[in-house]
Amino acid sequence: MKIQSIKGMYDLLPNQTKNWRQIENILHSFFSVHGYGEIRTPNIEQTKLFKRVIGDETDIVTKEMYSWEDRNGDNITLRPELTAPTVRAFIEHNLEKLNKNTKLYYIGSAFRRERPQKGRQRQFSQFGVEAIGSEFPEQDAEVISMAYNIYEMLGIENLELVINSVGSNASKAKYSKELKKYLSSYSNKLSDISKKRYQNNPLRILDTKDKDEIKIIEGAPSILDFLSKEELEHFNQVKRYLDKLGTPYNVDKGLVRGLDYYTMTTFEIRTDSIGSQDALCGGGRYNNLVEQLGGKPIPAIGFAAGMERLVMAISGDEEAEEKVDVFVLSMGDLAIMNALKICDKLRSQLGINVRMDLSRSSFKSQMRQANKLNADYVVIIGEDEVNKNIGIIKDMSSGNQSEVALDTIHKNFDIASDE
Ligand code: HAM
Repeated sequence: MKIQSIKGMYDLLPNQTKNWRQIENILHSFFSVHGYGEIRTPNIEQTKLFKRVIGDETDIVTKEMYSWEDRNGDNITLRPELTAPTVRAFIEHNLEKLNKNTKLYYIGSAFRRERPQKGRQRQFSQFGVEAIGSEFPEQDAEVISMAYNIYEMLGIENLELVINSVGSNASKAKYSKELKKYLSSYSNKLSDISKKRYQNNPLRILDTKDKDEIKIIEGAPSILDFLSKEELEHFNQVKRYLDKLGTPYNVDKGLVRGLDYYTMTTFEIRTDSIGSQDALCGGGRYNNLVEQLGGKPIPAIGFAAGMERLVMAISGDEEAEEKVDVFVLSMGDLAIMNALKICDKLRSQLGINVRMDLSRSSFKSQMRQANKLNADYVVIIGEDEVNKNIGIIKDMSSGNQSEVALDTIHKNFDIASDE
């Protein structure tokens, strides 16, 4: 019996990792020019971190976490997201001492035991930022526009940025009460899961995917009407900054997001080009989280984005074409020995991307490989050539051939690669 990978978890093969690495490199420089430093936290954390941060009634905590008891009795969990670990590390290492405004970014794996489908895996990769220290709307505008600019810069089409404000915990509590009042007249129409949420966390009902419930929600009071004057002014200022930055957005009063830590601004970026799992990224403010985890009362905002969804939006199912500079064809022991030496020189002395066949294939098959790899040049070394101490260099675009002494072949590519 063959052993296969776990459901919802995938291998990334060389034709995919190439794309990934390119995107990761772009992200590293993008975050760096914005003054964000990279943080790498462990894949496993104490279960209580996520329970406390994400919320006991959320889907993630109730049914999606990979949690188990370690041999020493500790309850541990594969991280379902990276905000909680980042804030834990921020507090643990007193990062606020180094800088009043701590700007961090990450690229790493996350794990959620969801039903797998296109764009939804059980192991996936997130990149994101956490800006910890500023309570001001300019920080919101920076984080939101950064997220938007990444997708624009990478040429993703049909982007929709939606924003909302859920206010402080006090405003959320006031609103929850009103929402419950409104929903009470529909209680027999609510699904079992919403009935449970009605008791424990009514705001989560706004996130429903159930068509009948969406209709009910449309008539619900707006959370924006329950914000304090200051909270509303903060939200308006965020909108003014986004307008000034030319970052287009729609306000969606139902955007409460699936994690409990949000206060004030929330946002999501979607696209219709990747199927039903259309959320490219999501984020928002979490002004109470640092304190809730034992740190000082420090406000923060951030976002996280799915790498797989970004890669899908960029490339569809396209595979990147391979391209090499030189392919060395060889036949016979002496020719192979010379080919190995030439490849080594071209790579180590000149950094040229060069291949040769290591399976003793026929010349015809080696030429096929060179064509498939779009080689600019091939070097041909057969027995005749070895006897004459030469190799043939063929320019694949013009078809021109020249005979060159074996020990000087690499020098020809020095010139070729300089051209
Ligand atoms: P989230 O909305 O749960 O937020 O996840 C952010 C993004 O991760 C989603 O928009 C999606 O692109 C991707 N994602 C989530 N689950 C999956 C999955 N099962 N398969 C593939 N991609 C997935 C957070 O995680 C928050 N920590 C964001 C945040 C950062 N808020 C403040 N700072």
